[in-house]
Amino acid sequence: TKKMIIDADTGIDDALAILYALKSPSIRVEGITTVFGNINVEKATDNTLRMIQLAAPLYEVPVAQGAGKPLKLDQPEFATHVHGANGIGDVEVPASSQQVLDEAAADFILRKSHELEDELILVTLGPLTNLAHAIEKDPGVCQRIKHVYVMGGAIAVPGNVTPVSEANIWNDPEAAELVFASGVPLTMVGLDVTMKTLLTGEQLDRLQQACGEENDKMVNFIRESHRFYFNFYRASNFFIESAPIHDSLTVLVAEDPSIVTTQLMNVKVVCDSELCAGMTVADLRRRSLVGSPIYVCTQVDASLAVDRLLHAFI
Ligand code: BDR
Ligand code: CA
Repeated sequence: TKKMIIDADTGIDDALAILYALKSPSIRVEGITTVFGNINVEKATDNTLRMIQLAAPLYEVPVAQGAGKPLKLDQPEFATHVHGANGIGDVEVPASSQQVLDEAAADFILRKSHELEDELILVTLGPLTNLAHAIEKDPGVCQRIKHVYVMGGAIAVPGNVTPVSEANIWNDPEAAELVFASGVPLTMVGLDVTMKTLLTGEQLDRLQQACGEENDKMVNFIRESHRFYFNFYRASNFFIESAPIHDSLTVLVAEDPSIVTTQLMNVKVVCDSELCAGMTVADLRRRSLVGSPIYVCTQVDASLAVDRLLHAFI
């Protein structure tokens, strides 16, 4: 089994990714850390706790709350038009009585990087602020973490917040650049592959019929929350009820990297620019001089990814 910490700004696709990770027999979720992004960090934490209760894993999953704002800016903007006012498509899910750890996300990541040296996989599904804080505190963490899988960025495709920037990077470009330049082994699961990995309403309807009683509530939640998500994506996905599974794909890649093709590229994040902040620029020149070496996902077996995701809930 792969030992993972999931760092999430728990919105609709984060929630699905968390449920999947908790259901997959080949993943052990060592903890979930939360960050602002789709919604504020308090709601991200609350949604995370609700998801853990909904999945009811056979082991305890500690939750540590992290950054409420990016490294530089004081007023983050949230994406409630994409994820709903509560972050999970305005679907009501019972509250959990699980207590949040009395430890900040960055400290939790640092502690686990010692406990699970060379084994710990970090999967980030939101802005990179928590990992940036951890690296600032103790740069040695970059040698102890086995690998980081980042949902974020776009190399050869358009952005989704600005013409060139993807939301997670755009929400904290300084944190992303700090992490990319830190030397931590990192794979970028960006819009280049996530926008090709679509889940449809029809697939969710079929899943609801196929799933056993034990997973019925979970699948019902996934279906309901995705209604909101599909509405947002309707125009961009040719008016078909479908949406990219950005965050689940990142967990799937961390679980089994063979579902994607990667290419090592030097990548730099643009920080100071009104037009291009949050852009992930790859220096693909023969003599590449700008940026830090990052594995960028360039191709994906999308149908295998979606099949695996759905299969976990049958
Ligand atoms: C990413 O931004 C967030 O809205 C999603 O949860 C995903 O992590 C996609 O750009
Ligand atoms: Ca996310």
